[in-house]
Order: sequence, then structure tokens, then C-alpha cells
Amino acid sequence: MLVMLKTNRDELNREAARIIASAVRRDPSLTLGLATGSTTIGVYAELARMHREEDLDFSKVVTFNLDEYVGLPANHPQSFRFFMQQNLFRHINVNPTNIHIPDGMRRDNYDEYCAAYEDSIRQAGGIDLQILGIGRNGHIGFNEPASSLGSRTRLKALTRETLEDNRKFFASGEEMPKCAITVGIGTILEARRIVLLAAGSSKSKAVALAIEGPITASVTASALQLHADVTFIVNEEAAAELAQKDYYRRILELTAEFTPSRLW
Ligand code: GLP
Repeated sequence: MLVMLKTNRDELNREAARIIASAVRRDPSLTLGLATGSTTIGVYAELARMHREEDLDFSKVVTFNLDEYVGLPANHPQSFRFFMQQNLFRHINVNPTNIHIPDGMRRDNYDEYCAAYEDSIRQAGGIDLQILGIGRNGHIGFNEPASSLGSRTRLKALTRETLEDNRKFFASGEEMPKCAITVGIGTILEARRIVLLAAGSSKSKAVALAIEGPITASVTASALQLHADVTFIVNEEAAAELAQKDYYRRILELTAEFTPSRLW
């Protein structure tokens, strides 16, 4: 694991966008796993700028989103499809046929549909770089506490905490979806490289448990400890409860003379 501490959101956004952009430049037909949520907005804005000003080319990139609310049509302003369109896709030259997001309007045969989503990830050669946010309860995607650490894409009921956290995005009085389709922890762990972003004090407990706590289905992000190539990019507020903060800060300094290509 590599833990990168950033002083503010701007630095976090730039670092995450830099990692994504260099992966795309190295492999123009990269398969990207994408997340939604307020933490990703600045990262996507930076990628859009790089596309505009630095010719970052997404024409061959393939994308798979982690999750979608059940019951929201693609044009609903709170659907993750709409979020991706507004914050990233309409600003870059991604080919619409290369975009994959679970279908929130699916009414039946969820198992079949979810297995087909997994199949399309496999047919694309698997996820090369998976971007993640983290919920206040330590969830990744919508893998709520007590999700199997081997889980695959499936229908998932949302916890009260997650419903509360996401209610702010919905109009007052508007009915909020109580379920989502999400890729599983097992699916996420198969990505070749994982980058998790966390910002703000509301995430400090989840971040500390994910990085330094025991591996447990109660904090599904802790499963990332099993992955061979995971980077956490965390701002000061989100890093507040990390016990080894000072060590993480010094790792780059201490290893600089060896110029390793990998630090995790
Ligand atoms: C939702 C998404 C997660 C995301 C989380 C964090 O629950 N399903 O993938 O990590 O939001 O959102 P935010 O960045 O707004 O805190």
C-alpha cells in the first residue's frame, strides 16, 4: 500500500488526475474503473482540462462505473450516469460505445444482468486502473458493511448512513432509491491497480480503519489491504486519525535515493 498525504483537495485532485493521465498516455486503450461522488468531481475537472489543453486522448479508453441507483433513469440528475456525463464524459472525447454503467432501470433478472456486467469487464480484458472513493462507513462502490469480501456485481440495499449522506443531492421530499447495483469487492480486487481518494473530516475514521484496521467485511475498504498495487490519496482532514501519518509522509523521502519504481 502506498499512502499519499496531500494538504488540500486541489493537490489531491491534481495527483489523482496525473496518475490517470499517465496511465492513459502509456496505454491509450486503457480500461478505467470509475467512481462517482463529490470527491471525484475535481479530479474529473482536471482530466477535462488536460484533454482540452494538453491533448489527453480518451478516444480508445474503455470505462466501467462501479455502481448505479436502482429506479433512476439515465437522465435523472442524481443518477450516476447523469453525474458522469456532466462531470466527465461530455468534456472529453471518450467513445460513447466504450462507456459502461450499470442500468438503474433494470426491473428483473438482476442476477443475469449483473453476471453480464461482469462478463463485459472480462471481455474488455479486466480493469487496468480502478478509481475509488470511500463512504463514511468505509464502503467502496456501494459495498456496504457486511458485504462479502469475495462479492461480485449484484443488487445491494443501502444503509441508513449512506442514504443520509446522499440525501443532500436529492430535492427535499423527493423519494430516494434504497437499492443500487454495485460491482463487488471481489470484482474491485481484480483490477490491476487501485487508487482510492478520500477528502474531508467525515472520512477520517473510515480511512484509518481501511488502512490500519483489521481486514473486515464491516469496513469493506479494508479488503484493499489484500491488493498488491493500491494507492490511497488522502487530504489532511481525511488523514487525521491515521496513527502512522508521519511514517507515510516520510516514505518518499526515505526511499528517494533508491529510486524504486514501486513503493507498495
Ligand atoms: C457513493 C458512491 C461511492 C463513493 C461515495 C463517496 O456512496 N457509491 O462510490 O465513494 O459515494 O462519496 P463522496 O465523494 O461524495 O463523499
